[in-house]
Amino acid sequence: MGRVSGKVALVTGAASGLGLAIAQRLAEEGAEVVLADVARESGEMAAQGLANASFAYLDVTSESAWQALIGSMDRLDVLVNCAGVVELASIEHTTEDIWRKINAVGTDGTFYGCKHALASMKAQGSGSIINMCSTASIQGGPNIFAYAASKSAIRGMTKSVACLSTQEGYGIRCNSVHPGNMQTPMLSRMYDTVLEHDPEAAADMDKLWVGDPVDVANMVLFLASDEARSVNGAEMVVDNTTSITEGAVLRHDK
Ligand SMILES: NC(=O)c1ccc[n+]([C@@H]2O[C@H](COP(=O)([O-])OP(=O)(O)OC[C@H]3O[C@@H](n4cnc5c(N)ncnc54)[C@H](O)[C@@H]3O)[C@@H](O)[C@H]2O)c1
Repeated sequence: MGRVSGKVALVTGAASGLGLAIAQRLAEEGAEVVLADVARESGEMAAQGLANASFAYLDVTSESAWQALIGSMDRLDVLVNCAGVVELASIEHTTEDIWRKINAVGTDGTFYGCKHALASMKAQGSGSIINMCSTASIQGGPNIFAYAASKSAIRGMTKSVACLSTQEGYGIRCNSVHPGNMQTPMLSRMYDTVLEHDPEAAADMDKLWVGDPVDVANMVLFLASDEARSVNGAEMVVDNTTSITEGAVLRHDK
């Protein structure tokens, strides 16, 4: 008997990185997993490699696509809102395009996911929603303006959904997970960008702690399982102290 046996889980951004590791851990522990992503080929391949898993094409920025997917599912016990995009830019260099792109996937996508999962889970009387935030939701960062804003919005949504559910007796838990740097394709792309524009900053990044995606997946697994039945509205940091030390903030003395 696995830790999430009998549960149906939907994981967005599941074709790559953290979402993929989460889908794998949930499947290993007995859940039926729907891997949702815009990356069809890698998503389908990942789903084929897992027991009791399938792929669903989902662009999280489309509310009607969310409604169609959740409406097609017999039940939904776990939603992991993991899809995300990042672009490094300070407020001074954040264009409207960057702002809209990051917020469309992160903020809008998580809003639609929470809203439509809530309706389905409320009818069931149970469910667990897990929203992928970041240490950027807690700290911000000089060159990660729109991303930090989006992740902070998701943190606020999480607590609001959790409070509503408790107040109204919906039986739904909603928690956020805040990873530090994790070894995924997103982090590799960020590193390459920094290296191209500022080799000194890239050398600083080399000194930072980087975690394994499975560490985040294990936190999500716990929140998805009934072991976390009293954990609601919480922000679970997975960063080996980097958000309480200088670890994640690069400082350049002039
Ligand atoms: N890697 C890290 O260090 C780190 C740290 C903190 C938080 N996070 C967050 O974790 C999540 C996963 O990041 P990752 O590092 O695995 O990134 P990743 O780039 O490896 O994977 C992101 C996935 O999201 C998918 N995606 C993008 N836009 C989408 C859309 N509109 N609809 C559906 N899917 C879409 C991509 O196709 C991709 O498969 C993101 O929300 C990210 O912000 C990552």
